[in-house]
Amino acid sequence: MLGSMSTRTEDTIALDRRHVAHNYAPLPVVAASALGAWITDVEGRRYLDCLAAYSAVNFGHRNPEVIAAAHAQLDALTLVSRAFHSDRLAPFCAALAQLCGKDMVLPMNSGAEAVESAIKVARKWGADVKGVPAGQGTIIVARNNFHGRTTTIISFSDDDTARRGFGPYTPGFRSVEFGDADALADAIDDHTVAVLLEPIQGEAGIVVPPGDYLPRVRRLCTQHDVLMIADEIQSGLARTGRTFACDHWSVVPDVYLLGKALGGGVVPLSAVVADEHVLGVLHPGEHGSTFGGNPLAAAIGTTVVDILRRGEFQRRSAELGAHLHDRLQGLTGRGVLDVRGKGLWAGVDIDPALGSGKQVSLRLAERGVLVKDTHGSTLRFAPPLVITADEIDWAVDQLAEVLGH
Ligand SMILES: Cc1ncc(COP(=O)(O)O)c(C=O)c1O
Repeated sequence: MLGSMSTRTEDTIALDRRHVAHNYAPLPVVAASALGAWITDVEGRRYLDCLAAYSAVNFGHRNPEVIAAAHAQLDALTLVSRAFHSDRLAPFCAALAQLCGKDMVLPMNSGAEAVESAIKVARKWGADVKGVPAGQGTIIVARNNFHGRTTTIISFSDDDTARRGFGPYTPGFRSVEFGDADALADAIDDHTVAVLLEPIQGEAGIVVPPGDYLPRVRRLCTQHDVLMIADEIQSGLARTGRTFACDHWSVVPDVYLLGKALGGGVVPLSAVVADEHVLGVLHPGEHGSTFGGNPLAAAIGTTVVDILRRGEFQRRSAELGAHLHDRLQGLTGRGVLDVRGKGLWAGVDIDPALGSGKQVSLRLAERGVLVKDTHGSTLRFAPPLVITADEIDWAVDQLAEVLGH
């Protein structure tokens, strides 16, 4: 618990315990407002946000350009469903397709929905285009993946907590070690329709693969007529210092999965982006979503694409990310065992003797820094990309102090 919890915080958390399903264990901070990289709680205490809603707030809380686009669209049109066209959807899809160097976009809402949609598209592509007997297409995934929480997606998760009790599971997936291209080559057979992976594994602890891995995955997929699907829902959209994490290896997947920051931290907006010979397998009635591609989300998404086209956040993430990594590396041997990541995205393994990741997160919150633990004693630093070098220094100083150095 935070040192001086006051009644408003306590009351809200008590109400939460009674009425909000217990599927998360949040830090005891009750946010009331936010701007840029800072969150203010119901007591007026300020916190430097070093999580950015798992990268959904890459461009800063209440980014002025995004908020202006949202306000303007709220005053015009918010939802028609896909039963009619809106004047917002096609321009958004055209802009996003161009950013990705692809032909088409399938707009959805949550990240998990984009992954689900891509699985359906890959299976249909396997049957209709590749000629795999219907119902027999398999998709190769990576160990320790995280792609969301639906029944099908947890079917190929290795996280026992995410899976246990939720069966029966969806068949059709084969899992191989992340980073091992030989294992992937061995797993591909005539029924393989796709390889689905995060270019950098986020929830697993910001795990960056060996340098030749993604280029080899790309070559194997091309050789065997298999779709390479890159889940860039957390790693994409400037987080790692490039528009897409795949760009670090000059790899272009067949399918990009995007979400989180695509909605500007305002609305859920996700997308499957691919060429026509892939997304063209979908016909009317075969897939859909009432809110997918709604005018409000599309207007916000168009603004996000405009922001990304300018490249300022990619540059900030690369430059400030180098600074963040330098500072965190300076703590190795002083309570930190390992630091991984790219750009303003870092997984920091804490010496378990100094406390669990959750305990260290709580101590950081008491000092005004919000981070999220993942897998025992790993902390994830993923601040909004508007963070400054001074703020990074201050956050790392707080970490050094809670680790006793
Ligand atoms: C790589 C990746 N894919 C998919 C998802 C699922 O996104 P959502 O929570 O919006 O369903 C996440 C969420 O953390 C993610 O990190």
